Amino acid sequence: MTTTFASPSSVQIFDQTASAVTAGLTSDPKWLPSWLFYDAAGSRLFDQITHLPEYYVTRTERAILAEHAAEMISQAAKGSALRLVELGAGSADKTRLLLAAAVDRQDTVFYEPVDVSASALVEAQIRIEREIPGVLVCPRVMDYTKGLELDPCLPGENRLALYIGSSIGNFEPKEAKRLLESARAALDPGDCLLLGVDLVKDERTLLDAYDDASGVTAAFNRNVLIRLNRELDADFDLNAFEHCASWNPAESRMEMHLQSRVDQTVWLAALDQRVSFNAGETIHTENSYKYRPGQAEALLAESGFYPETTWTDERGWFAVCMGRAR
Ligand code: AVI
Repeated sequence: MTTTFASPSSVQIFDQTASAVTAGLTSDPKWLPSWLFYDAAGSRLFDQITHLPEYYVTRTERAILAEHAAEMISQAAKGSALRLVELGAGSADKTRLLLAAAVDRQDTVFYEPVDVSASALVEAQIRIEREIPGVLVCPRVMDYTKGLELDPCLPGENRLALYIGSSIGNFEPKEAKRLLESARAALDPGDCLLLGVDLVKDERTLLDAYDDASGVTAAFNRNVLIRLNRELDADFDLNAFEHCASWNPAESRMEMHLQSRVDQTVWLAALDQRVSFNAGETIHTENSYKYRPGQAEALLAESGFYPETTWTDERGWFAVCMGRAR
């Protein structure tokens, strides 16, 4: 019943990093994939970001879930027992709100967090089983961005898949659709998906959220260079790159870049590669798409779900949408 998959080996992780970095830094314009942010230090910095006064995203979604968790759970269950699967390890207390609401409805709830990081899953399992009696955690070590495989539900059970935290916003529209289609393929008709999306809002609020006064987001962005120095034996000078956050209205996304302050050449010993930068040239490190009202529902519909209900906050800054698998 408990299907787990082997964690990728350190050689596989090195190869994946090496080929992504080679592809990104030899392109024009230069880019790096945003999954490189999340080493141990980057994950800690991201956790700090979620508590920043400027980063409204986590707080706003949390408030929506706190207000509507019971309704979301009972709507998804439709009278059946519910099993929750989460794309990502669910470290945040937002998942806890939904799990607690599910335990209130039924005595035992199976919770399957899916993540590439086995250690993140073990941490989540220990914490959640200690904090919410009645939840049985079944970790699934898997890269859900490359496809999702789930065990069949027990007879009489429905599944609710969670993809919250605006993580979908870090994917290009085509990739986002592919990801939801693969989630749909792993579900049965009648199962549900709860999707959290950040909405378009005034530019000032967006810029502050991605360039906070205390510099945590800048440190999060620059941490990718620390990672390349460590893992690829590179010699990036952190002070020679500036954190830049900008709003791209044509693409409806926040962008993060690292901008070279000077003409410089960086040596990546493990790749046997030299990369030159002109002053002002940037490495594009992240996109964070912001949805317009109705867009998330359209994405769900295109990916094999009936959009059923959308919950939002009173400022209309964030939306949590429930789709039911067709
Ligand atoms: C993880 N993801 C939803 C965050 C976002 O808002 O796009 C990552 C982040 N980047 C800068 N701040 C937070």
